[in-house]
Amino acid sequence: MGYGHNENFIGSDSYALKTMTNKISYLDDGDFCLLYEEKVEFYNFQKKKINKEIFELSQDDNIADKGDFKDFMSKEIDEQSLSTKKCINEYLDKTRNEINIYNLPIEPKKINKIRLIACGTAYHSCLIAKYWIEEFTSIDVDADIASEFRYRNVKLNKNDLYIFVSQSGETADTYAALEKCKINKVKTCGIVNVVESSIARLADFVLPIHAGPEIGVASTKAFLGQMLVLYLLILKISKERDDIDFDEYKKMILDLKKLPDFIKETLSKQNDIQVIAKDFITAKGTMYLGRGYSYPIAMEGALKLKELSYIHAEGYAAGEMKHGPLALIEDGMPVIVLAPKDRYYEKTISNMQEVIARGGKVIMITDDASTTMNENIRFKFQIPKTNSTLNSFLLTIPIQFLAYHVALLKNCDIDKPRNLAKSVTVE
Ligand code: G6P
Repeated sequence: MGYGHNENFIGSDSYALKTMTNKISYLDDGDFCLLYEEKVEFYNFQKKKINKEIFELSQDDNIADKGDFKDFMSKEIDEQSLSTKKCINEYLDKTRNEINIYNLPIEPKKINKIRLIACGTAYHSCLIAKYWIEEFTSIDVDADIASEFRYRNVKLNKNDLYIFVSQSGETADTYAALEKCKINKVKTCGIVNVVESSIARLADFVLPIHAGPEIGVASTKAFLGQMLVLYLLILKISKERDDIDFDEYKKMILDLKKLPDFIKETLSKQNDIQVIAKDFITAKGTMYLGRGYSYPIAMEGALKLKELSYIHAEGYAAGEMKHGPLALIEDGMPVIVLAPKDRYYEKTISNMQEVIARGGKVIMITDDASTTMNENIRFKFQIPKTNSTLNSFLLTIPIQFLAYHVALLKNCDIDKPRNLAKSVTVE
């Protein structure tokens, strides 16, 4: 509920109301209200009149202003170097190189398992975090889609930490999964962009991603923010448990500080991607392939293309190709291969050869400067070289650009793709 002068508003999340008012109240489950021009009356599920706390929304700059950009999505993609810098500054103590995350609901040394729960793009950030948790900690980990988690017979354990990731903090399935954990009194943490949101208010512990308002329906800068906060949280937990060597920890922090500049460099190559966007207009479908940290980005790439351009796309673990999807490859089919020079590189390249041998038109995204475009590799996008655990951030940018430019060529509504909503507050 938003309060104005002789007018009141109702919206599915606080961002929707921000251009009209900065004073809002939240309805809890079962509540209802009567909305008049000059007043709002609240009732609980027993039809008893109740008073509601009024929250003042934080003032963000440029809230609903596209500036010189064509649409919010291109603005939000462009903001990613600044938004990651801001988030790093919020969480990193510059002098001590310490990560400012304290008072987790379970002491890091006592965490038995971490369960990550989310929907859509936020779920992909959880999948990447799963790889990082396995890499940097001795903690068991699982990532779940919220709409599955909420109905499964999951064994909830008081020594496990349940992390809910949501840009809006209002997604119905993620909220219901969190409620299930709260009812069972296990420890919860919310990673959100909207700090006043329902998930932020219900979770035991909240970590904001500080990305600023995200208006485009397809999530971009919030995804990078979610990955970043998860990365910081995992490094902190790893250090507190002595799972990571201190010198390695310091090096990871130093590398992380350079990330905003690497993102900026990657953003400056937008024009390169426009060249191949046209290959997708006539394509029946496409595939994104990756291994390790690149696999969840392959899934995110496919989701972005589907959401924005309505072209069928699948994100696959490159090693799974032989088990079915290879049958789809035919002459001229565009296939995006995410192949940074990490420990999976050789394997990914051999999967890429299998695609080439069947006539697939490969678009390769890599930090390997030695590979050149040839008759087999139709297009190569080069990302800067960094610590391999940070590749996921940089690989994300070309896949966002690609989806954006294909959608632009197809004249699709970039900020409001058909049939989709920014905050999914229903099941
Ligand atoms: C919708 C949006 C997606 C988003 C998903 C989860 O489907 O269109 O971009 O990833 O909801 O939203 P959340 O706010 O929970 O991150």
